Amino acid sequence: MSKDSLNTLRRTIEDLDVALLKVLNERASVSVQIGKLKDQNSLSIYDRRREEAIYGYLVRHNEGPMKTSDINRIFSEIISVSRELQSTMSRDDYEPPVKSRADSNTNALSGETSVYGILGNPVAHSMSPLMHNAAFTLLGIDAIYLPFEVEDLQGAVAGMKALRIKGASVTHPFKTQIIGLIDEIDDTAEKIGAVNTLVFGKERIRGTNTDWVGAVRCLETLLPIEGHRFVVLGAGGAARAVVFGIISKGGKAIVVNRSVEEGRALAEEFNCVFVPLSEIESARGDCLVNTTPVGMYPKENEMPVPRQVLGTYKAVADVIYNPLKTMLLREAEAAGCMVASGFEMFVYQGTEQFTIWTGRQAPVELMRKLVVEALAQHKAKSS
Ligand SMILES: NC(=O)c1ccc[n+]([C@@H]2O[C@H](COP(=O)([O-])OP(=O)(O)OC[C@H]3O[C@@H](n4cnc5c(N)ncnc54)[C@H](OP(=O)(O)O)[C@@H]3O)[C@@H](O)[C@H]2O)c1
Repeated sequence: MSKDSLNTLRRTIEDLDVALLKVLNERASVSVQIGKLKDQNSLSIYDRRREEAIYGYLVRHNEGPMKTSDINRIFSEIISVSRELQSTMSRDDYEPPVKSRADSNTNALSGETSVYGILGNPVAHSMSPLMHNAAFTLLGIDAIYLPFEVEDLQGAVAGMKALRIKGASVTHPFKTQIIGLIDEIDDTAEKIGAVNTLVFGKERIRGTNTDWVGAVRCLETLLPIEGHRFVVLGAGGAARAVVFGIISKGGKAIVVNRSVEEGRALAEEFNCVFVPLSEIESARGDCLVNTTPVGMYPKENEMPVPRQVLGTYKAVADVIYNPLKTMLLREAEAAGCMVASGFEMFVYQGTEQFTIWTGRQAPVELMRKLVVEALAQHKAKSS
């Protein structure tokens, strides 16, 4: 290749870059206008469904040579920048939710540091602080996430509001009880009947649910949800998020539960079939999803269903993440099924929370690695 032709091609790239920059700035200006409208209507900057739609139409319009994964990477950054611009430039009363912290050492905590936390009882075992704090540090966000073991939930919520805490996770046993103590919940949390994420605005506390997003991502590692049948064991809080996720992604859910009354009520609410646990053999599906605590540490040798039913499924997922691989998953693997651990659900409910709070893309791989390591350490200590 001659030097001239290289220079010509480079000039073409420069022209294209300048044109691209202009288009990106036009896009950013429109994004700021959208941010203003969202602010006026008290809508959250982060809108997962809208972002999914954007990736959808980009992939449909992509004529190559870039691959879908390249498009997703590039637009993930563009969308992340748009969110940040919406946070900073759209609001008259803008107060930065999170600022860059040059020094990630906790000694650098100051009056500017944004505080997040988890409300539960017990919470000492929770891996959410590990996950969120590592993500804040990696992205240079001036924020900290703390475990709060709560006795008095109402007092805790009032205290968090008074202390201008920015956001919180909600875990067992408060996911339902919290609903009566906050100002609003979104449609998703209302349908699921549980809140696992709080966003503290200037005046109001909003509740949402990210467990279902975690469940969907976990199941999608096994098979597409749309068009497949999922037999969901259990009818508690986790089951509600899983069933909601399956149905909203176009799958079919069959509820199987020990208590007939609770199981039937959940199935009726989501318009699906109910099968009592005692008749599990008659439930037919592509994937079995355990949402009961059976098999959770320290009772790791328990199974929620008889071994012989496992061979009828292509895949088996568990919402339990301690142990990483439950007896159910080990037996399912032995029966030739694909398996997914609850840690996928746990990590993704957390990455979704992170994006809701900060507007930034969460460092998924780091968060996943830390959870796996912490679970491995826990196993080593307890064996
Ligand atoms: N991976 C994650 O991110 C994530 C998120 C949320 C929850 N979880 C896990 O999900 C599990 C369930 O939590 P949850 O909040 O849904 O609990 P929950 O509301 O108390 O519901 C528990 C369900 O399990 C059933 N169950 C309990 N013991 C059983 C047994 N021995 N045999 C058969 N069924 C039994 C119950 O059936 P009955 O109606 O008959 O009592 C009920 O349907 C926990 O292990 C939790 O740690 C994981």
